[in-house]
Amino acid sequence: MHHWTISIAICLLTSLSCATTALQAVRSSPARAFITAASTSTAKFSITQVKNPNWKPYSLSTTDVYAAPFLKHKKPMPAPLRAAWNQSRLRGKSYQGSLAARNDGQLVNGSDGLYVYLTKIGTPAQNLHLGFDTGAGDFWVWSWLLPAYMLENRIYYNGSNSTSASQWSGQSFGVSYGLGSTYGLVWQDTVWVDSIGVSGNPIECIQNIAEFFVSTLTAVDGFLGLSNAYNDSESPVPQQTWMSYVMPHLAEPVFTASLVQDGPGTMEFGFINSSRYTGNISYSPVTIIPGSGGGFWAFNWTGFAIGSEKFNYTNIQVMTDTGGTIVNLPRSIAQNYFAQVNGSTVASDGTWSFPCTSQLPSFTFGVGKSGRMVVPGKHMVFGPLSDGVRCLAALQEVDESQYVYMTLPFLQALFVVHDYGAMQMGFANRPPTMEN
Ligand SMILES: *[C@@H]1O[C@H](CO)[C@@H](O)[C@H](O)[C@H]1NC(C)=O
Ligand SMILES: *[C@@H]1O[C@H](CO)[C@@H](O)[C@H](O)[C@H]1NC(C)=O
Ligand SMILES: *[C@@H]1O[C@H](CO)[C@@H](O)[C@H](O)[C@H]1NC(C)=O
Ligand SMILES: *[C@@H]1O[C@H](CO)[C@@H](O)[C@H](O)[C@H]1NC(C)=O
Ligand SMILES: *[C@@H]1O[C@H](CO)[C@@H](O)[C@H](O)[C@H]1NC(C)=O
Ligand SMILES: *[C@@H]1O[C@H](CO)[C@@H](O)[C@H](O)[C@H]1NC(C)=O
Ligand SMILES: *[C@@H]1O[C@H](CO)[C@@H](O)[C@H](O)[C@H]1NC(C)=O
Ligand SMILES: *[C@@H]1O[C@H](CO)[C@@H](O)[C@H](O)[C@H]1NC(C)=O
Ligand SMILES: *[C@@H]1O[C@H](CO)[C@@H](O)[C@H](O)[C@H]1NC(C)=O
Ligand SMILES: *[C@@H]1O[C@H](CO)[C@@H](O)[C@H](O)[C@H]1NC(C)=O
Repeated sequence: MHHWTISIAICLLTSLSCATTALQAVRSSPARAFITAASTSTAKFSITQVKNPNWKPYSLSTTDVYAAPFLKHKKPMPAPLRAAWNQSRLRGKSYQGSLAARNDGQLVNGSDGLYVYLTKIGTPAQNLHLGFDTGAGDFWVWSWLLPAYMLENRIYYNGSNSTSASQWSGQSFGVSYGLGSTYGLVWQDTVWVDSIGVSGNPIECIQNIAEFFVSTLTAVDGFLGLSNAYNDSESPVPQQTWMSYVMPHLAEPVFTASLVQDGPGTMEFGFINSSRYTGNISYSPVTIIPGSGGGFWAFNWTGFAIGSEKFNYTNIQVMTDTGGTIVNLPRSIAQNYFAQVNGSTVASDGTWSFPCTSQLPSFTFGVGKSGRMVVPGKHMVFGPLSDGVRCLAALQEVDESQYVYMTLPFLQALFVVHDYGAMQMGFANRPPTMEN
């Protein structure tokens, strides 16, 4: 047990080399094939989330919630967060709800993974609940290759129990994700997402995973990456995303997200459903986040407004990510926002919170010349803190020069188009009845 824990720690530092020590002879993968009842050049799919039956509430420290995007995207933490994060690492697993929070720190319940997409893998089909993550490119699942205790009360993929499965010998993967890493072997099997079927789809089967995920991803059985990435983390033969494979069969090379706060959202592949938004869609070209090598769904907004304030024309780069739960705004914008929230304060780890009863202004951002996307104030709440009085803000600050990081709290208010054809992102408002 102790040996095993130590070896994870080493693997977390060098997750790729850990995963690849098991490399055998390389062979090329069996071809992937698109298998669906729909016409294969004009396919359109609408996929609605389901509530994962295994989801359980779990507590996180505010420091861990705030740190997650910085770790996932390897961006510099603001100084107070860096100090709090270092201190919490020294103290051990601060993210486990059973441990006391920092001196003036607090705990907050996470809701990641409550709504997920049902995915069927193998023959006979094994039902897994996957997060669809536009900020990552890998397709990995909880698998039978994990130590038995990590499989307790879990749904996982078992390749040995599928007649259509085979191991891709020599192929492995390693991902550094949020608050930890995961790595494992690659198998190939048939995958159905609603009525989109792909045979021979590479499936990253995890063999080990950071403890953080064991306690927090209580019901996310894996992730399907939908980033704009070129290559995923597989080695020695990097793979392209599931979407890049499915795309040639779609009526149009697009997918859209109509996500919902506290409710099942929908993603649509191959078409733009005009009944899911109001007004016009405003488009902006995909931009490259400096230092990232590209591969993200990023664009430049043309300005912003807080509440009923005048629109401030300021061109700022924005990374979007459906795999994130905190929105990061450059410090001056975040501080202007919280200046309008009664009783808002910053804790020593740098997290903003406010009395849960405070009124919250809306946030508007500009797309193109005249597009104005309005995110209502109720989207700015991450959740109640353990004192029962205050709420952690879903908006948190980053250093002034950083890009805006736009995740679920904003995306759940809007209709979002990911357009590979014109390499652009589109945004439109949704009627209030559609964003609950
Ligand atoms: C946090 O830890 C890192 C790595 O150990 C170190 O480089 C950095 O100086 C520390 N920062 C603070 C604010 O303690
Ligand atoms: C995986 O499936 C095989 C074949 O049914 C079975 O023998 C094995 O116990 C399963 N492993 C796990 C961890 O469920
Ligand atoms: C393996 O598949 C059989 C047939 O579908 C099923 O009854 C059994 O529960 C599965 N076992 C595991 C460990 O997944
Ligand atoms: C993707 O992987 C291929 C095959 O290993 C490699 O030739 C190519 O340079 C990689 N592309 C990028 C953008 O990393
Ligand atoms: C378009 O969206 C509406 C809901 O706004 C839904 O009822 C309809 O089924 C969707 N159309 C398609 C083709 O999926
Ligand atoms: C949508 O775009 C058209 C053409 O550019 C314009 O005439 C119309 O006013 C726009 N509608 C809205 C609601 O902005
Ligand atoms: C996007 O904004 C960044 C500043 O955040 C700027 O450096 C870059 O040139 C802009 N790119 C485009 C295409 O406007
Ligand atoms: C517009 O926003 C920028 C960035 O936060 C800020 O520096 C500037 O002062 C703002 N301008 C006005 C008029 O509020
Ligand atoms: C802030 O508090 C003041 C005084 O209690 C009150 O008048 C005002 O309406 C509050 N504003 C908001 C936005 O809640
Ligand atoms: C988190 O949820 C559990 C179960 O509903 C509850 O007992 C606990 O008090 C909650 N924690 C916080 C910080 O809200």
